[in-house]
Amino acid sequence: MVLFGNGRVALVDDPSTAGRLGWAARKRSAPEPEIRLAPVSGDPALEPWIAQGRLPAGGGPGALWQGGGSGWSYLAGVPGLDRYLEAMAEPRKRRDFVVGISGLGRVGGLAASALAAADTARTRIGTLLIHDTDGDNLERMRQELACVASWRKNVLPRVEAATLPEMLRRCDAFVFAAARAVPPLGAPGDVRLPQFGPNREALRSTLDAAVEAAYPGLFFVISDPVELLAQAAFHDSNAPRGEFLGGGLAPERVAGLALGIMWARALAEAEAQGAGARVARRGVPYGPHSTDVLVFDDPAGPDPELSRAMTQAARTGNYRIRDLGYIPFIGPALSSIALTLPALLQGREVLASTFVDGIYFGAPSRLRWGMAPTRRPVAADVRRQVEELHGLVRERMAQYGVSFASAHAGI
Ligand SMILES: NC(=O)c1ccc[n+]([C@@H]2O[C@H](COP(=O)([O-])OP(=O)(O)OC[C@H]3O[C@@H](n4cnc5c(N)ncnc54)[C@H](O)[C@@H]3O)[C@@H](O)[C@H]2O)c1
Repeated sequence: MVLFGNGRVALVDDPSTAGRLGWAARKRSAPEPEIRLAPVSGDPALEPWIAQGRLPAGGGPGALWQGGGSGWSYLAGVPGLDRYLEAMAEPRKRRDFVVGISGLGRVGGLAASALAAADTARTRIGTLLIHDTDGDNLERMRQELACVASWRKNVLPRVEAATLPEMLRRCDAFVFAAARAVPPLGAPGDVRLPQFGPNREALRSTLDAAVEAAYPGLFFVISDPVELLAQAAFHDSNAPRGEFLGGGLAPERVAGLALGIMWARALAEAEAQGAGARVARRGVPYGPHSTDVLVFDDPAGPDPELSRAMTQAARTGNYRIRDLGYIPFIGPALSSIALTLPALLQGREVLASTFVDGIYFGAPSRLRWGMAPTRRPVAADVRRQVEELHGLVRERMAQYGVSFASAHAGI
């Protein structure tokens, strides 16, 4: 066996990728690599490019309850892979994280405010870059957040306004919270799906800047419809003209952050029923940030009635706020972003929509190199419901033209 590369990771028996990267055979004197990456073949339109415990495509949401081992592998030959391998081989960062938030409206603005007021020693976020296409709003937020300080012991992140290209050159994690047309109060029907067209358009210039900068960082989607837009980020950066080229964002470096608020709404219902403490330990939400989300008080042995009430609370929570005459954003900004992102960056389990058998789907997840679901035992009936929901989300992705249906491989 020949290892290539003298960094944190080494490639196993792949002189061709190593040659392209300029990685020589690993020196005998070099320490054991932290990660040995083995080349495998697969479909880069449907599978993570770099993964630990890879599961074969076609298994639906099986990754939520079944493991694929601990070995690391990558899909050799994907055009966009090299920048990720290079970033992965760098020494572990000792500096604090640089986080960028684009879109400083109700949700992005409050999330930026909460992170700007959070101790860097706790969050490890040392710099917050902010951006908005509305120049006055950006300057207002820059000035406001520059004036967040605590007496004497100032350990809060440094806040800087930045252009998109600058953000994508500097960020470890980029958060897309921009929106063009949030339906007003009183708008009939679904308030998320109608945003798809305008928000996909708004996302386009960001994706162009990410591809241009060969951005190797994490890319988080907050804007609605969250899973469809996360899928669009993967799809449109890799298939700008419809045909899969593979030069864009790696699917495992993209995720939707929205299940946090769904869970918080469900947990509030469990608390109201006196089951909060038990549910906080064992409960789990699955699926998209939509009225299709599922919540279980305990996925291994759910109480059907409590699970139904929690699911209903998660599905309707935003409408209850709208019915009072307000567009909801406080719970979302705090639960889906401010309380999720620091934990996520530090490798703790969080709620996120990650690439599960070719589509973005919400579940407890963790950052390894990419974002991947964490697995847990689930009852047969829960499994059936989650499989059905995963199928429905897949159909919706196809209907909106953002999924890759079949083998594009050749890789
Ligand atoms: N993920 C979640 O948990 C969650 C929860 C609630 C709402 N949302 C969604 O978050 C999104 C934002 O909601 P909001 O209430 O903050 O909207 P908003 O209308 O208050 O703010 C949108 C902001 O985006 C800016 N913007 C528009 N196009 C831009 C672009 N291309 N680049 C950068 N900035 C741009 C606007 O200037 C504005 O400041 C919506 O899609 C909403 O449905 C998500």
